[in-house]
Formats: sequence, structure tokens, C-alpha cells
Amino acid sequence: MNVCVLGTGYVGLVTGACLAEIGHHVVCMDDDAGKIEVLLRGEMPIYEPHLEGIVRRTRAAGRLHFGTDVAEAVRDAAVIFICVHTPPLPDGEADLTYVEMAARRIAEHASRSALITEKSTVPVQTGAWIEKTLAIYSRRPGVEFDVASNPEFTREGMAVEDFLHPDRIVVGVGSARAEQILRELYAPIVEGRFRCPIHADCRQDRAVPFLVTDIRSAEMIKHASNSFLALKISFANALADVCELAGGDILQVTKGVGLDRRIGRAFLNAGIGFGGSCFPKDVKAFVKIAEKSGYDFALLREVDRINERRREMVLEKLKRALWILRGKRIGLLGLAFKPNTDDVREAPALAIARRLLEEGAEVRGYDPQAAGKARQALPELTVCADPYEAALQAEAVVLCTEWGEFTGLDWPRVKAQMVRPLILDGRNALDREKLTAMGFEYIGIGR
Ligand code: UDX
Repeated sequence: MNVCVLGTGYVGLVTGACLAEIGHHVVCMDDDAGKIEVLLRGEMPIYEPHLEGIVRRTRAAGRLHFGTDVAEAVRDAAVIFICVHTPPLPDGEADLTYVEMAARRIAEHASRSALITEKSTVPVQTGAWIEKTLAIYSRRPGVEFDVASNPEFTREGMAVEDFLHPDRIVVGVGSARAEQILRELYAPIVEGRFRCPIHADCRQDRAVPFLVTDIRSAEMIKHASNSFLALKISFANALADVCELAGGDILQVTKGVGLDRRIGRAFLNAGIGFGGSCFPKDVKAFVKIAEKSGYDFALLREVDRINERRREMVLEKLKRALWILRGKRIGLLGLAFKPNTDDVREAPALAIARRLLEEGAEVRGYDPQAAGKARQALPELTVCADPYEAALQAEAVVLCTEWGEFTGLDWPRVKAQMVRPLILDGRNALDREKLTAMGFEYIGIGR
């Protein structure tokens, strides 16, 4: 199929590359000429496992193209994905300017009937607005548009894996024709008919559930899924606080709770809170959507509040251990919002760094992938070349992102660098017993 993807950010690039991988012809378009130039040079604007290889291969096979010309990109496409970003407005509501602009441009330039599919995270009813926009600006007689919502559930760092081996594919449609097109588009994934680029011995013997709903329900599924996951994390964090006050070890508690199949262990890791481009933004946006519809989603407001409080909790723990922060050097291990990504958007590590800097501390951080983006986002932060440099002369080291390499650090060397061997394990990822035996003071979360 001829596919066009408008917006070549995280979602757009992964969608375009993976659809090319399973056999479609894809044009990825973005207004940011710089980003497209990077892609045309064969480089990746983001760090995402497996993506570079897929882009290289599918481009070489002539199935993946990049460009900045929207008219050319949409002209012959049978399916057009809207993957533009929907940044938050100051009140938490999503700014849909780019979505409307994309719909307008499609209406003005498409030369054949096409299925317009929203993949950006958008409020319910956006599909209806896209339909209206297409109808108003469509210029060519005989060209008809169907609209669909096809929310993505991919995690950064696992995006290719999640796209090609999803738990489910959800499509919200308003017509049998739209459903048919999306069934055909995703058939290789649903039926396991593609050569998996990730696992050499991949046996795709599990049919992927393909859920067809109305458009608004599909939009709602996206909000509900992200909010529920965020809720699980905030629940675990609240539980961690209660464990600290009343007794109990959050690791044992969540293990016990998670063994109940109705609950599950995933997304119950207590720590310094959730970050990234999705959860913080999506929870706030869903609260706003509910509010506009007349429902006060107090439960989700609390999820957000608990999460915001996690940063202050780190400061409080440090103050309890160090008394005064002014003039003291603190090392941060991990700056990305989670491991296996270079993304620092809404990263708890940077929020903590900002607060420490406000308190007059000197902050030195290290991250295996996010150094460049962290420097850009917070120039006052000293970004070091390795973890040992971040620990140099530090009075405390805070583990903010649980990169695998941190568990295998040469901890005696870390200790030798520090003024005071204090570790605040913000993700409960390190071996408390081992570190304590080495002479570290260890502070975890909820233990
Ligand atoms: C999320 C959703 O998982 C994905 O389905 C959606 O499409 C986009 O948003 P992502 O933002 O990439 O994906 O990251 P995710 O792995 O979900 O983690 C989000 C944040 O929650 C991270 O900061 C992570 O550290 C934190 N987290 C996650 C916890 O604090 N505890 C947990 O148990 C799990």
C-alpha cells in the first residue's frame, strides 16, 4: 500500500519505518528540514533500538522515503497517518493546531481518495473535527476521505518491538471501507507474515488481537490506557511512602500484590516518578477533557499530584542525610526519563537537578545516551563523560534512571571518588546488601 506519514517525530518515524519493514511503500514528511536532512544522510534524530537498521534497509529497498513537500507526500497515498505533535497548552489541554493544519493540507493536496488516520494522542472528538476540516477544505471533486483513529501504544526504547509485536491493534472507524483498509495494512503483523528484524528465531504463532471500535472509543482507549498505567505507578509510589512511614518493603509488597493476575506486577515500580513525553502530558490532558465534558476526574488529578511530589521527596531525603545542600556536590546517574532512550522530556532527573541547583548545590550528571539532550535542556548542569566523573568529590550520588550498566559499575571505584559514600537509589535498582557491605550508606525508596 502507499502510505504517507505526516510528522516524523518518535511516533511518525517508528510508524513509517515499521510499515515499510512489513512491505508497504511509505513517505515520511516533516516541516523540519533539518530533521529530514539528518534522515536523508542516514542518521537517526532519535536513539531507538533497531530503528536505524530498519530505516537503512527499507530505504535501500526503495520502500521508505523522506521529504518536506507535503503536496508530493500526500498526493498518491491510500492511507495518511497524522503523527504531528500535540504539545500541552499552559492549562494542560492539548494544542491541536498542528493536527488541524495537517488535515487542511491533506484536503488541499490529496489527489485521490484516502483514509486519514490519527495516531497522535488527541482528545476524543478530534476525529470528528478532522472530518469537518477535510470537508471544508477539500478542493477536488471525486476525492473522498475516510477518517480513523489508530492509537499507538509503543514505549520509547521498545518502540520497534511494540509496533511489530503489539498486545493489540485498535482501530476506530466510521465505515466498513476504513476498517478494510486498516485490516489490509496491518495484516502482516496480525497474521505474523513478516520476517522479524529483531529476533532471528522469532516464531509469530500468536495472532494479534485486532479490535475495531467507533472512532471516539478508540480515542478513549488511548487516554484510558496511559492514564491507567500512570495510576499504577502513582499507586506504587504512594504505597512506598506508606511503607516508609508504617513499615514494610515496597519491593516485597509489590511482588506480593503483583502476583495476583488481576493486578499484575508491571508498572508497579516505585521510584522518583514517571516522566517522558506521554504520561505527564496525557494525564493532565485527560483531566482537562473530562473537566470540559463536565466530569471532575479527581482520581487522575491525584495521580499527577503524587507524581509531581516525587521530586521533592528526593530533595527531602537528601536534606535529611546531608543537612545543608548549598555548596555540596551531588552526582546524578541517568538523565533520560527512563533507560534505553536519549529522551529527556519531563525527565524526573532533570527536574531533580533543577531543584538541587535552586538549593545552591553543584550538580554533575551522567547518562549513556542523553548527554547531548540533557546539556541542551539544562545548561547549568555539568554533564560528565562517565559515571565515575559524576561521582567525583560528590557528597551523594542519586540513581535517577536504571540503565543496565549502572548495576555493573565498579562500585569500589565510585566510592573512592566520593567525599561521602551515600547512594540514593531513586529506582530501587541497585543491590542494597552488596552496597552496604562495601561501606556505602544506602537510601532506597519505600524500603
Ligand atoms: C508510554 C506508554 O507505556 C506507551 O504505551 C505509550 O504509547 C507512550 O507512553 P513511554 O513514555 O515510552 O511509553 O515510557 P514507559 O516505559 O511507559 O515509562 C514512562 C515513565 O514511567 C518512565 O519515566 C518510567 O521510568 C516510569 N515508570 C514506569 C515508573 O516509574 N515505574 C514503573 O513501574 C514503570
